[in-house]
Amino acid sequence: MIDGRIRTLSAADSPGIIRLLQLAEWIVDWPRLQLYLDTGTWYGWVDGGSLLGMITLFPRGEGRWSIGNVIVHPNARRQGIARTLLEFAMNSVSAPATFELIATEFGYPLYRQIGFVDCDSVVRLSRDPADKPGLLGRIRNRRVSSAAFGAALSQPLPASHWAHLASLEQTLCGVYRPQILRAVQRWPNAWLVGDSDSVTNASGFCLCLPADGRVRLGPIVAQDEDTAVELVQHALELTGSNTAFIDVPTADRDANAWLKRLAGMGFRAIRTSPAMVLHRVRLQESPANPPGGTPADSRPADRRFGLFDPAML
Ligand SMILES: CC(C)(COP(=O)(O)OP(=O)(O)OC[C@H]1O[C@@H](n2cnc3c(N)ncnc32)[C@H](O)[C@@H]1OP(=O)(O)O)[C@@H](O)C(=O)NCCC(=O)NCCS
Repeated sequence: MIDGRIRTLSAADSPGIIRLLQLAEWIVDWPRLQLYLDTGTWYGWVDGGSLLGMITLFPRGEGRWSIGNVIVHPNARRQGIARTLLEFAMNSVSAPATFELIATEFGYPLYRQIGFVDCDSVVRLSRDPADKPGLLGRIRNRRVSSAAFGAALSQPLPASHWAHLASLEQTLCGVYRPQILRAVQRWPNAWLVGDSDSVTNASGFCLCLPADGRVRLGPIVAQDEDTAVELVQHALELTGSNTAFIDVPTADRDANAWLKRLAGMGFRAIRTSPAMVLHRVRLQESPANPPGGTPADSRPADRRFGLFDPAML
């Protein structure tokens, strides 16, 4: 117990965590929960042995964090548990720090109250092969560049390959999370797609994480839209019988053009959610005079064509 009823959570708390996810009607398949448990810092609000609330922090490098899995048991809401967990989690890392998240309609007022502001809109796209039976064939017949590769992660990649992918994501997106990328190796039937003949020559990549007949494509990191299209086509070839999802951030690029290209591949938008950000400065620094490091909302154009997922962004 760290602060009253708050304590860190571990894999041993999985039953309580799964219960809260179910109560919120969030579909988090087991490999994804495993990835969250392997790579996130979890805090829970525990009362009489029951887990009543939870939150996860994921590192994004350079004092940046994403926040996910914010859920409070329906019987314990509007008692300040989520706000206390958020403050506790954000105070647990040293300032200056930037926190980012995707808000649901329930979380939005809470985050506004704490000081988060809107920074992006994230469009969730879905592609069901049953919707357009002919499409997969057309995609299959379209020639994906012979230089592209698809690597099954059941064959572990050398550390140098993961290091290359992590630094590529850092260069193109300002996000540095080598441990999280590497942890994906534990995901059953995961694929890595790249735009080159080898991982270490790749200048763009996409992870394909299938579970329960669904596959999430992301992160999709690419120098340009044409490369991103190629990555998605290749990913669909490898995982074509699954319903595919992509979460597309729309603030930093000509998102409409990218969304149109995805529509041409059979994706349709199923919802849009606000992404939000909060910058914490050191106590002695005034918010008007931000500390060293570039705040997330003044970074150079982001070349993420798809997020990793809703919790890790
Ligand atoms: C969102 C959620 C985590 C809030 O948990 P909570 O413990 O009830 O939130 P708190 O009691 O700490 O609320 C703090 C403040 O946020 C705002 N707030 C929280 N829930 C709200 C709601 N349903 N409607 C309007 N404002 C709300 C209020 O300003 C509240 O302060 P107040 O009660 O003094 O008015 C909870 O409703 C939940 O688990 N929802 C389902 C999962 C989900 O959508 N999570 C958010 C993911 S982004």
